[in-house]
Amino acid sequence: MGIWITGYKGMLGYDLVKILNNDYELILTDKDTTDITNLEEIKEIVKENEIDLIINVAAYTNVDGSESNKQIAYEVNAIGAKNLAIIAKEHDIKLIYISSDYVFNGNKSNPYIENDKTDPINYYGETKLQGEKFIQETMDKYFIIRTQWLYGINNGNFVKTMLKLAENNNEINVVNDQYGSPTFTKDLAIAISQLIKSDKYGLYHVTNSGECSWFEFAKLIFEIANIKIKLNSIVTSQYPTPAKRPKYSVLSNEKWLNEGFKPLRLFKDGLNEYMDLELTKS
Ligand SMILES: NC(=O)c1ccc[n+]([C@@H]2O[C@H](COP(=O)([O-])OP(=O)(O)OC[C@H]3O[C@@H](n4cnc5c(N)ncnc54)[C@H](OP(=O)(O)O)[C@@H]3O)[C@@H](O)[C@H]2O)c1
Repeated sequence: MGIWITGYKGMLGYDLVKILNNDYELILTDKDTTDITNLEEIKEIVKENEIDLIINVAAYTNVDGSESNKQIAYEVNAIGAKNLAIIAKEHDIKLIYISSDYVFNGNKSNPYIENDKTDPINYYGETKLQGEKFIQETMDKYFIIRTQWLYGINNGNFVKTMLKLAENNNEINVVNDQYGSPTFTKDLAIAISQLIKSDKYGLYHVTNSGECSWFEFAKLIFEIANIKIKLNSIVTSQYPTPAKRPKYSVLSNEKWLNEGFKPLRLFKDGLNEYMDLELTKS
């Protein structure tokens, strides 16, 4: 089975390659070789390779940057997804697209289900929702996974930011009024490896289990790393960002479980393994 992973050099791409490499023929591209906004370049890849499934992890992931660079965010996240859907449909190839909790406004106080009304909190969320819609309008054999708060070995993430800040500061302010489920890219890649074997197409919410605020997540990171630092709990208004963030965007994994897929472990367990890897890296 041939699997084309777009954006394979990114954070999730790194773990997908590690998880899938032994069992599948992987075709790996990133922005430097194949730009997903360019339909001709995509056609070339499909022409030259035997592809059964595309996993589109290529994305413009600069959430704050998306507010000022609207065109590039839309081109990559929405048009890129549309291009891949067109080609996938034409060649009867399955497609996986990774979407985001930012398609919701964050005003709920219990976990979001797949059928909840979307209302993107920021422009990045709007582009990811448009990507979802283009795929749904174009083809049937798709899996759309909404996830959130990703961290992994490759590229920057919240855990690395906290550890870096602790090197030069005696105290750190972290927002305590935004809730989600931190998700290890390795665990998400394992979940994707289950999906690949099924034909239960559709939209899924997939994250590690459990929920916390960013403040609680930071506290856990420093406990695991055994770093003593003064953590100050602040509210969102004290940490303004160009793109709004949801107050509560925990994603219910109930549909995922009901379809017979395995639950992802508790985020605390994922974080423990990740930090072991991160802290012992030379
Ligand atoms: N990170 C999160 O917390 C989070 C949360 C929810 C959903 N997601 C979604 O999960 C997926 C993976 O996220 P990630 O954090 O692993 O992303 P990432 O580390 O930013 O990786 C994305 C990759 O896509 C590449 N890329 C950008 N524009 C491209 C283009 N036009 N054509 C081909 N490749 C392009 C990037 O290259 P350059 O680095 O050279 O630009 C990068 O290698 C994305 O779809 C993202 O929207 C992420």
